[in-house]
Amino acid sequence: MAASSFSALSVVSVDRDTPESVVLTLDAGDDPAFQFAHGQYLTFRHEVDGVELRRSYSICAAAPDGVLRVGIKRVDGGAFSTWATSAVRIGDVLEAMPPMGSFTHDLVPEAARSYVLVAGGSGITPIYSIAATVLVEEPASRVALLQVDSTMSSIMLLDDIEALRNRHLDRFQIWRQLTREVSGLDLLQGRPDEDSLTECLQRGLLDIEPDHVFLCGPEPLVEIVRKVYAMHGLVDERVHTELFTTAQSGRARTRASGPVDDSVAPVGRGTAKLAGRSTDFSLYDGDTILNAVQRVRPDVPYACEAGVCSTCRASLSKGTVEMEATYGLVPGEEDAGYILTCQAVPTTSAVIVDFDG
Ligand code: FES
Repeated sequence: MAASSFSALSVVSVDRDTPESVVLTLDAGDDPAFQFAHGQYLTFRHEVDGVELRRSYSICAAAPDGVLRVGIKRVDGGAFSTWATSAVRIGDVLEAMPPMGSFTHDLVPEAARSYVLVAGGSGITPIYSIAATVLVEEPASRVALLQVDSTMSSIMLLDDIEALRNRHLDRFQIWRQLTREVSGLDLLQGRPDEDSLTECLQRGLLDIEPDHVFLCGPEPLVEIVRKVYAMHGLVDERVHTELFTTAQSGRARTRASGPVDDSVAPVGRGTAKLAGRSTDFSLYDGDTILNAVQRVRPDVPYACEAGVCSTCRASLSKGTVEMEATYGLVPGEEDAGYILTCQAVPTTSAVIVDFDG
């Protein structure tokens, strides 16, 4: 994973998407680092009242188009999203890290695969990118989208989704479940639950045995869909998930990343490889690896600090750690030695981590 070098991106358009969201189109010039895969995200930084905020937003565009668009929805009390949805103008410059994220997969142009996509609220942003990319790059594949939102007027990217459907009428099917309005079918009323999703599968609205399932939304929705597909025997490798919020906050920062008082003795040592350079660091009681590395390498990548986004992911080649939340790791990564450094508290006195691997 690349180090957290931020680049300046120009805002070339600001489109009001819903009353609470905007779509920003950004220009990275010819920088090849900003080529992206479907489902990936950008991490932005912005200072509010002297505090640096970092937030990640999914790219909502077909990868072959190469257009950097992000959809941002205002959340109550969210300083970053309030600024981004109200104050950003054409010509402004935003600082962003290159695209990251493993909510993606290998495309096979000659494949005729079945995809089920489930999006809750602003979870539609990476899901749109996946649908738009698959429909172009795999011309024989089919996509079914279950979109959960509160009302039609709160649906992000509605025009884009409808235009995509009109271009691929025979291969792109959309089911909408609105929690505060009446939807089309009886079983799509209210919030999705185990029973309604099971019926969706049994009635054939969603393929019971798809090649890939991509889920993005709040944790309860993602977990229900995972559970129902698991009950029908779908293996984990075919189910890709991304949370944009989580009921659990993960491990909160336990220590400021600034210098530690000289009188405090370290409890361990580590080495971090980052951007091709190895740097030694000291570990103090309660440190996450991210805290410790950040004292000596301010360029260490991170965003959510809650175990969700995977921006801080690294491989651990020496030592052991405990992690409170691992939402940002895909199945198999933990066994393969990957950790989320914002969550990882060492349980050995020496660790070696590689952010580049
Ligand atoms: S910074 Fe997001 S998972 Fe660690």
